[in-house]
Amino acid sequence: MLQSPQRVSLNEERESHRSHFTRKPLSIRLMRKMARVIPGNRLRNYIYLGLIAAPRNLIRQYLLGFYRIELVYSALREAKRLCAGRLTILEFGTAQGYAFTKMLYAIRYLSMEDRVIAHTFDSFEGMPPPSHQGDRDLVGDDTWYEGQFGGGYDELRAYCQHNYPRTHAIHKGFFETTITPAFLNTLRNEPPILIWIDCDFYSSTRVVFERLLPYIPSGCIVYFDDYELLNFGSRFTGEARFVAEINSGLFGKNIELVLDKKLTFDSSRVYRFVRTGEGPRYKLREGIRSTDTTNRRLDESNDSLLP
Ligand SMILES: C[S@@+](CC[C@H](N)C(=O)[O-])C[C@H]1O[C@@H](n2cnc3c(N)ncnc32)[C@H](O)[C@@H]1O
Repeated sequence: MLQSPQRVSLNEERESHRSHFTRKPLSIRLMRKMARVIPGNRLRNYIYLGLIAAPRNLIRQYLLGFYRIELVYSALREAKRLCAGRLTILEFGTAQGYAFTKMLYAIRYLSMEDRVIAHTFDSFEGMPPPSHQGDRDLVGDDTWYEGQFGGGYDELRAYCQHNYPRTHAIHKGFFETTITPAFLNTLRNEPPILIWIDCDFYSSTRVVFERLLPYIPSGCIVYFDDYELLNFGSRFTGEARFVAEINSGLFGKNIELVLDKKLTFDSSRVYRFVRTGEGPRYKLREGIRSTDTTNRRLDESNDSLLP
């Protein structure tokens, strides 16, 4: 909030005694000068909120806002650059197929139809009833209800068969029954590059990973669509609870989900799966060394043009 003229001049007096190193930034000093010529706290407040706070928030939102479909393109581009062989994208929670059809379009747009299949899993019966404390809304008691997001299987299947016959697979049923050993076995030759979790509940997320974990290669991108939606991302509930459990070692001491700040901007929704020791690995393209995938940040920080 802007300050009264008396307080402003007092502050300025104090400031003049400080060393140059602790001086307020130019923007703050300019604001203080401005405040002196605007009469009254109410008007100062009004001008600050309208002319400074609102545009600042808007710019922050647009510059740092995370748009989830961009992530599909980032994952595919990275895989195209680094990985050899066939690959998969796995989505858990399809509903009407909004994100799924965008994934299929991205595969085609990047000319990766010969190499990437997108699998999606859903009961198409909508949300199951909450079955764990970790599924509950602790703030507003407004959790997802049984049957929410149901239907859409026949239309989605017809649409995908017509438009993307080679690159899609729809697995209808509860995760407990559709993530079969036979399916998991196919991931040995077609490892996932992106795992897209959009099944909202902690209990559903946990079922997925209990089966999938041994098949995820280090470096795989894991996206949690509802990470912050339930209880602000509390570690007690939702997808965030599962991330906290993985990182506390509950599913093994040698695996971790590391927040990828480069891909997620100001959200906490995008992770890299990391495993020490033995486990599945991507087959890298010829000429790509394993350090090309792990030391990217080092290379990028050596790019200064300064003498
Ligand atoms: C928010 S919707 C998915 C939205 C979708 N990804 C989109 O882009 O529009 C969540 C879906 O998760 C599914 N789901 C939740 N738990 C499940 C489970 N245990 N087995 C199968 N499907 C489940 C529900 O049927 C629901 O359709």
